[in-house]
Amino acid sequence: MRRNIVAGNWKMNNDLPQTEALLQDLKKHVVPDNVSVMVAPTFVNLYHAFESVREYSVEVIAQDMHQAKSGAFTGEVSAAMLKSVGVKTTIIGHSERRAMFWETNEILALKVNAALENDMTSVFCFGEELEDRKSGNHFNIVKEQLEEGLFHVKNDDFKNIILAYEPVWAIGTGETASPEQAQEMHKYVRGLVTDAYTNEIAENVSILYGGSVKPANAKEIFANPDVDGGLIGGAALKAEDFMAIVNSF
Ligand code: PGA
Repeated sequence: MRRNIVAGNWKMNNDLPQTEALLQDLKKHVVPDNVSVMVAPTFVNLYHAFESVREYSVEVIAQDMHQAKSGAFTGEVSAAMLKSVGVKTTIIGHSERRAMFWETNEILALKVNAALENDMTSVFCFGEELEDRKSGNHFNIVKEQLEEGLFHVKNDDFKNIILAYEPVWAIGTGETASPEQAQEMHKYVRGLVTDAYTNEIAENVSILYGGSVKPANAKEIFANPDVDGGLIGGAALKAEDFMAIVNSF
């Protein structure tokens, strides 16, 4: 059975004291049994965050990582470095990485491989831009992103994959995909996984929705049969809002 997951992507927000303050606020809430909760602070605060939530049922994950094992890649962080501070999961291919840091499907495929080689889980993000949706090309774009970035992994490796559909036009814009649009794409993606792998693998993979999820809309988005949770940006920065989303299943 697939897991319900709510992951908070803090992006480039929260210095060390702010990280600790938000974690303390989160720790005032009880995490329900039916949801896996993750938070992704910036690299520099991962170790602190990991130590801070040791006794609490929230997993600390990374926002990105580099595909190489080690070496002359100034400013980058490897899978082994993440693992050494307790991180076992990383977001890969967030649309901000794709758009602002020129990460291509080919690069993302290498990042997924590096994560798998280190027995780490990837939250693999994909999603169309507004023009793609307007021109009706959104299904093709998503198919291409998955085929080029992800579908080379072996059947067995899919247990270390979480999918996150994030339509770019809905990220940080306040505009959310309707529950019907989210369900339609998630169902399509599950079908792609069935075709490329097996029905069992497709039924077991969690597909998260991301893009302006808030306490006010989380319930109706999560109620869809193929939506297994959310990747949350802005609303993850306030403990009350984030935990209200976590409690929306
Ligand atoms: P948002 O961001 O919730 O602020 O729209 C979502 C994301 O980028 O993962």
